[in-house]
Amino acid sequence: MSWIDEKAHRELARVRESREKQVYPYFRPFETGGLHTTIGGKPVLNFSSNDYLGLTNHPKVKEAAKAAIDKFSTGLSSSRVQATTTAHVELEERLAQYFGFEEALIFTTGYQAMVGTIVSLADENTTIVLDNLSHACILDGTFMAAGTPTRQPEVRFFNHNSVKSLERILKTKERKNTLVMIEGIYSLDGDMAKLNEILEVCDRYDAVVICDDAHGTGTLGTHGRGLAEHLGVEGRVPVVVTTFSKTFGGIGGVLLGSKEVVEHVKHFARSFLFSASLPVPILAAASTILTMLEEEGPALVAELQEKATYMRGRLVELGFHLGMSDTHIMPVMCRDERKALFMHIALLESGVMMVPITYPGVKKGEERLRVNVTRGHTREDMDMALDLLDAYGQAFFVQSGEELGEMVNDG
Ligand SMILES: Cc1ncc(COP(=O)(O)O)c(C=O)c1O
Repeated sequence: MSWIDEKAHRELARVRESREKQVYPYFRPFETGGLHTTIGGKPVLNFSSNDYLGLTNHPKVKEAAKAAIDKFSTGLSSSRVQATTTAHVELEERLAQYFGFEEALIFTTGYQAMVGTIVSLADENTTIVLDNLSHACILDGTFMAAGTPTRQPEVRFFNHNSVKSLERILKTKERKNTLVMIEGIYSLDGDMAKLNEILEVCDRYDAVVICDDAHGTGTLGTHGRGLAEHLGVEGRVPVVVTTFSKTFGGIGGVLLGSKEVVEHVKHFARSFLFSASLPVPILAAASTILTMLEEEGPALVAELQEKATYMRGRLVELGFHLGMSDTHIMPVMCRDERKALFMHIALLESGVMMVPITYPGVKKGEERLRVNVTRGHTREDMDMALDLLDAYGQAFFVQSGEELGEMVNDG
């Protein structure tokens, strides 16, 4: 065995152990798309999906993707520099217009969009100020910039969603220019950024806000334009990065900003320049969903919100703690790895998928089930999940927060 095999073996101890105990929860293969699918031939209702408006499997979306295959096939065999199509350009123009920005740029994933944007904008004159619950793409973009010889910005963290903590950093930062990185909705906690206050403090310190609105797009604001629309501050966030991998039915990243900034990132982001162009069938799917948002956005968002309100009310009534959540993303807090894993397995056996989030995804003691309500869930779906959550929650002392104690034996 070489050292890489030894290293892999050593570092996979936890994975091996949970597989041996038959509680390993990840990478379970779905046999069809959609919220109602099967795993190993058994029906499963997915509550960990990010298909927030339930449009990914809409017949019009599939038709558009199929038609695009006939014209452009499944891939473009190169990066955007030499593999841009009219479909990319047209969708970029429509996205910029819909979200109220001068320009948009489509990347192959949201992750790449964020990494590329940060590394292009941050240099030795920049301090990047990050929320300490930032998504991996923000962290990785920051660390990549910090580790790039020609960039090397200062990196500072502020306490999650704390404007006071942010201001302390802004007062003591060492570089001239500042990028403040936030998320519209934090994906594991389901809470919205305090954008109004953050913008106010950033204005005072001349700091530029970049908002990752992956989870707010299509879910917040009357038209689904995200957190800024929801809070009435559209036009005040200079840069938004979002994704096609949730509301927009596929995969792909979007940078929204001024003409100059987007043009700059387009010519400097290595994650854009050196990775293959997004295939046209995926663009066609996203474009069809954008049309739906343009035509009936308010009704779609309202339906999601109404379902989320119902689910939240019932979860709270049943005694579950939802952490900091104030959106359709409602983590069911278990605060114990075993409880989260057992709940997941019991629910899955009964046909409901709620993926557990455990350390290091969250801090020890903050383990939870990922519960996302989408417009695609019916009242019956939610009631079925709630009944099961209630029954298993009581069995594993999730609502009461008691210890599992003697009941469970680690061996
Ligand atoms: C907050 C946030 N930002 C960015 C991403 C990355 O988006 P994509 O799936 O398009 O790479 C995700 C997806 O997990 C996310 O949750």
